[in-house]
Amino acid sequence: MSGDRLPIGVIGTGYVGLVTAAGFAHLGSDVYCIDIDADKIARLEAGEIPIYEPGLAEMVAANRERLHFSTDIADALEHARLLFVAVGTPPTYSGDADLSAVYAVVEAIPALATRSEQQRHALVMKSTVPAGTGASIKRVLAGEGKQGLSYVSCPEFLKEGSAVKDFLNPDRVVVGDDGDWAGDAVVDLYAPLQATVVRTDIASAEMVKLASNAFLATKISFINEIANVCEETGADVIEVARGMGLDDRIGQKFLQAGIGFGGSCFPKDVNALKQLAGNSGYHFQLLNAVIEVNELQKRRVISKLLKHLGSLVGKNIALLGLAFKPNTDDMREASSLVLSARLQADGAKVRVYDPIAEEEARHLIRGVYFATGALDAIQDADAVVLVTEWEEFITLDWDDVASRMAGTVVLDGRNALDREAVAAAGLTYEGIGRGTLTSLT
Ligand code: UDX
Repeated sequence: MSGDRLPIGVIGTGYVGLVTAAGFAHLGSDVYCIDIDADKIARLEAGEIPIYEPGLAEMVAANRERLHFSTDIADALEHARLLFVAVGTPPTYSGDADLSAVYAVVEAIPALATRSEQQRHALVMKSTVPAGTGASIKRVLAGEGKQGLSYVSCPEFLKEGSAVKDFLNPDRVVVGDDGDWAGDAVVDLYAPLQATVVRTDIASAEMVKLASNAFLATKISFINEIANVCEETGADVIEVARGMGLDDRIGQKFLQAGIGFGGSCFPKDVNALKQLAGNSGYHFQLLNAVIEVNELQKRRVISKLLKHLGSLVGKNIALLGLAFKPNTDDMREASSLVLSARLQADGAKVRVYDPIAEEEARHLIRGVYFATGALDAIQDADAVVLVTEWEEFITLDWDDVASRMAGTVVLDGRNALDREAVAAAGLTYEGIGRGTLTSLT
């Protein structure tokens, strides 16, 4: 890659920030990464990657000389004109997005209106923010005499667990701007990826992100409700989803029924869109249902276990997987959080195992036994629940599992296991929306 590309700043070194920084360094830019967390910056400086994301450590290492880490935003301002903002926008108690970290960045940038046009900066918003945030930020900037600062909305669509791959192969790049130099510069930066670029206004770009995530979450809650109906009618949701998905207008993706969506984006963005609509007097009924279905879906595991075990008091329940999905250590809004708490409240003894997320999970889940491996978690279990479809759980030897369990129930919360193999080992398999398959022995 050529080294003559535009240098950029990236404010915030979380999932989005670090992947964006490594990705643009890979494309040839010098990248000035800023974070207020001095410990994190020191770890990054020492070559340590604070999050687990496949391919990220390798990409950072390969482009180390182009990546610069600092706690001082002045370092980014000095070297780069485009400042990508990738700070957290977590939900507040009311479900609105908390924009305090975004506004702290706006605050931290000094008035630069006196600079020549060629020296001026632009904020490029990567953090997910409600539609209208760009307009509010521009009003704040104008009020503080920072009109010289341009603003671009460039929402991020990468998925955790495949973030590096997603950065390099985006379905589309959305650039919302006022038609000035900054929008052109962002489009140029992405040019090597040869992606479809959607150039639009700021408010529309912001809405593309929220609407996309809300739509995908709706698709998941929809198939989960279909799964629940399948359980009553004897249909198999996997067959139903396959049949539906072959219609081009529907598509196969995001029709995997399970025990609910989690993660840093879907729950937060669905809520944020609902709140955004509510704040402007519009009651977004559909999104209320999407959220409610998702919450109920996590809890249906409990009723399924009760159906098989009678009572949960004193029962050993093994949870395989804790992260909200495989290939990440992210525990945000993971179904395992609700499940482990509910199981314990109902008197069960809970044994858990996750290949990567244990450290994160230890801060969030109390009172459970953290097993050293899947087989340790399964030991003496009355029931095993697959919570996260890590590869190592899918390839378990079910005869071995059966010989270690006290009971026979295997609840596949992700419809990811080979149900014939589970049943052939003398176990009782139950998935989501596919009925029960009992011992084939
Ligand atoms: C999501 C969006 O996909 C991404 O574009 C956006 O930038 C951030 O939010 P992410 O949260 O990393 O990405 O994970 P994703 O793979 O989309 O899965 C989200 C959740 O939905 C997971 O809990 C997953 O298990 C669940 N899911 C996904 C289903 O239950 N069924 C499906 O068919 C797909």
